[in-house]
Amino acid sequence: MVLTEVTGELIHIFDSARNVAVLTGAGVSAESGVPTFRGGGDATMWSWRGRPVTELSSAEMLATDPTLVWEWFDYRRGLLKELSPNPGHYALAEWEGRFENFALITQNIDDLHRAAGSMNLLELHGNIWRARCLRCSSTFEARESPLEQNPPLCLVCGGPSRPDVVLFGESLPEGVFERAEEAASRADLFFVIGTSAVVYPAASLPIAAKQGGARIIEVNPERTDISILADVTVLGRAGEILPQFVTQRG
Ligand code: OAD
Repeated sequence: MVLTEVTGELIHIFDSARNVAVLTGAGVSAESGVPTFRGGGDATMWSWRGRPVTELSSAEMLATDPTLVWEWFDYRRGLLKELSPNPGHYALAEWEGRFENFALITQNIDDLHRAAGSMNLLELHGNIWRARCLRCSSTFEARESPLEQNPPLCLVCGGPSRPDVVLFGESLPEGVFERAEEAASRADLFFVIGTSAVVYPAASLPIAAKQGGARIIEVNPERTDISILADVTVLGRAGEILPQFVTQRG
């Protein structure tokens, strides 16, 4: 079923759910001014200093030129620090207290869910405001922007660090995907919001949810590869559609 607004039937499904899991992607931050990777009008497959993003954000580049990788992330942090959560982020933060179990799984590294107040957050691809020590593997907040030091030094052992994000060519942080999969499998309602759902393993989560018996509601201005799996696709922007689950009541 394809809708363009939240109907009474959807609100009933929402209100009856006990175990809810949500997967978000770049689209949930689009209305905050974060460019998406692949769709939704403002998509920008960035290049910077003449190099494609896929090269700058890669494990290979980290091994050959870690200074450049930090410069690239410093640039992105400079753009992100000016941005704020939008009504979609705030709606999801509010949903957290409404259900017996609620898991917010995000592919975004921008920290806007946390800024909106979400607490039970599974960040599949890491967080741009965190660094990870290359010597002792400690992770620590590194919020200074622009960076005072490249690379930021570990607060525990003084070693050099890297951005605590998943780079192309790397696998997801240990444990986080398993927890996301568990939340997806036990969900009775699973939302897929603002993601093209083509990047694995994140894209397998709606499938795990469906196999576990969940209803799938997708929120996206465009149909995606997941639409065929979804019970309902609500065509629209996250910042406009998500608040309706709480405000659009007869
Ligand atoms: P994509 O850029 O692939 O997809 C963004 C989706 O958001 C598209 O389907 C758009 O139609 C949709 N969209 C745009 N504006 C929207 C809005 N206002 N409300 C709701 N949806 C909107 O982004 P992701 O699926 O997040 O990985 O990409 C997944 C991963 O690919 C990223 O995490 C990143 C990238 O490689 C890493 O960096 C490891």
